[in-house]
Amino acid sequence: MNPQDTNKLLLPVEAYTSQEWFDREQRDIFGRTWQFAGMQTDIGDVGDFVCVNVGAYPIIVIRDESGSLKAFHNICRHRGTQLLEVRGNRKKVIQCPYHDWVYSLDGKLIGVPEKRTQFPHIDMAQWGLFPAAIAIWKEMIFVNPDPEATPFADWVGDFEPYFGPHQPKLLKEYETREYEIKANWKIFVENYIDVYHLSHLHSETLNMYDHAKLQSVFTSAGHTATYDPPTKDYRKYLESNPSDYLPLIDHVKQEQWGAYTHMMFPCFGIAGDEFNWSTLEVIPVSPTVTKIRQRSRTMPMDDMTVAIGKGYEKVSNWLYKQMGYQPEDNPLDSKDFMLEDIYACEQQQKAMASPQFAFGPTSIDQEQLIVDFHRTVLSYLQD
Ligand code: FES
Ligand SMILES: [Fe+2]
Repeated sequence: MNPQDTNKLLLPVEAYTSQEWFDREQRDIFGRTWQFAGMQTDIGDVGDFVCVNVGAYPIIVIRDESGSLKAFHNICRHRGTQLLEVRGNRKKVIQCPYHDWVYSLDGKLIGVPEKRTQFPHIDMAQWGLFPAAIAIWKEMIFVNPDPEATPFADWVGDFEPYFGPHQPKLLKEYETREYEIKANWKIFVENYIDVYHLSHLHSETLNMYDHAKLQSVFTSAGHTATYDPPTKDYRKYLESNPSDYLPLIDHVKQEQWGAYTHMMFPCFGIAGDEFNWSTLEVIPVSPTVTKIRQRSRTMPMDDMTVAIGKGYEKVSNWLYKQMGYQPEDNPLDSKDFMLEDIYACEQQQKAMASPQFAFGPTSIDQEQLIVDFHRTVLSYLQD
């Protein structure tokens, strides 16, 4: 059998362009998978909260009075108003802005104005906030809108051994980058897990890693993990302790140097190397627009602002150019692999508007993770 017959992309073009697909994904993929909601340190004090949209589901993550983290649907049990926005602190209670129903930090309904005259018969115990599932893993908070979801330990299961040597707790955040790209979220994910493009689109920007030795794994829950070791020359350079980059991460041993690039299904990226560890949130906005939020950590330094921009000097001065390149500039000359990726993603999305658009053949193995990703997406939409 021709390998192309089995090894081909499975999603139709509508998956990247139609509102109907987008809405189904929001409900059937994002409503049933674990999503990153932030770092533990984002909500360190009692009452600290952060709101996240997990597909179609607005969720609150809050630290209750016992100090533990709780997740609830951001929906008042009276007439459904969204209770909180973005992030902040509710020292003792969560109060709905509409008719002042009051919930404790652990989600119980504890106050209904004019209860005696207007709601004499309601049983307060029945009207607590809808719970969502929550888990903490390596300093990261994950939530799942379904409180009966697959336990997080099973979800992360066979992916964990490939996570790499980074210990986020020992590192310190120095930078957040946010930007919007004009492409469907799956195009971004597919680019992220595409091994084939590394030596081509990034022939000059990621050539410090030895792509021929790249190892990749696709796990049972649909996560992908890759490890790309440094080239001999780059390793030698690192051994010379270059001072032009961020400090080397001391708990990443020399034999562990390299690029760890992971994508937890459906779209939470984790990337680490010798200097840096980042989370990459891929947030679908519409069928053709996606927001990206990348938060980066490195070794704690007295002045963390020194780190800003420096982590990326090896490929570019992104921060200084951040999306400010002129239309006449060619992103392919930017020496920034992320700009190269964004350019490729947006060009692919543009072509999808053509009735002539069609996917061609798929490589024997360097695009296998994308085929696996398609299969996982379909598995969520087919039942
Ligand atoms: S909708 Fe929240 S109190 Fe009425
Ligand atoms: Fe790339």
